[in-house]
Amino acid sequence: MSEILELDHVSKKYEQGNETITVLNHVSMSVRTGEFGAILGPSGSGKSTLLSIIGALTNPTGGEVKLSGRNVHHLSKKEQTNLRLEEIGFIFQGANLVPFLTVKEQLQLIGQLIHQKNKITKRAEDLLTHLGLTERSSHYPEHLSGGEQQRVAIARALMNQPSLILADEPTASLDRDRGKSVVNLLANETRKRNIATIMVTHDEAMIKNCDWVYRM
Ligand SMILES: Nc1ncnc2c1ncn2[C@@H]1O[C@H](COP(=O)(O)OP(=O)(O)O)[C@@H](O)[C@H]1O
Ligand SMILES: [Mg+2]
Repeated sequence: MSEILELDHVSKKYEQGNETITVLNHVSMSVRTGEFGAILGPSGSGKSTLLSIIGALTNPTGGEVKLSGRNVHHLSKKEQTNLRLEEIGFIFQGANLVPFLTVKEQLQLIGQLIHQKNKITKRAEDLLTHLGLTERSSHYPEHLSGGEQQRVAIARALMNQPSLILADEPTASLDRDRGKSVVNLLANETRKRNIATIMVTHDEAMIKNCDWVYRM
């Protein structure tokens, strides 16, 4: 296992009128490959803000984020976009599937973004088989259960062979049992592929299978 992500005194403040709101106050952590970690905290504690700073979607007001040795907030916009496409897989609360694309097309879209046209169909099919979604591959999101939608979101996040997966409340729209099976799936894929996953959650019941927990 090697270090893949390092947060060094990351802070985030918002100015509202003449008030300053401190959302993140010197958050430091280091994450290694093969680790499935959780950021746990109540609503409003800054979890999504932290994840979007790690994913180079938001700039911190202080501190540094290094992904594979590169300071993500010192990169150009174009380099950040490439970093996201090539190295990071995102999973969000509501799965965020594109309503007018079938399950297989959701995965192929990500493949097309990174120009591996010859390999993407095969890779999409392999992932769908692996995650038990073959029979759903030509269905649209509205015909999938919440758990299935989240499994498609996991498959889609794995399409670009990321080194880091960022999952923001991936179980929030699921019942306990389905939530736990999504978490276990994510944990297994993380360890098997020797990548790193950071899952944000407010739910203590979801962190049992984690290698580390950061409490906000
Ligand atoms: N763009 C913004 N401007 C001002 N305040 C914000 C902004 N984004 C988030 N916040 C505030 O930061 C705090 C943390 O939000 P968030 O990161 O979404 O928390 P969580 O994901 O833990 O629920 C909240 O109080 C929220 O209102
Ligand atoms: Mg949030």
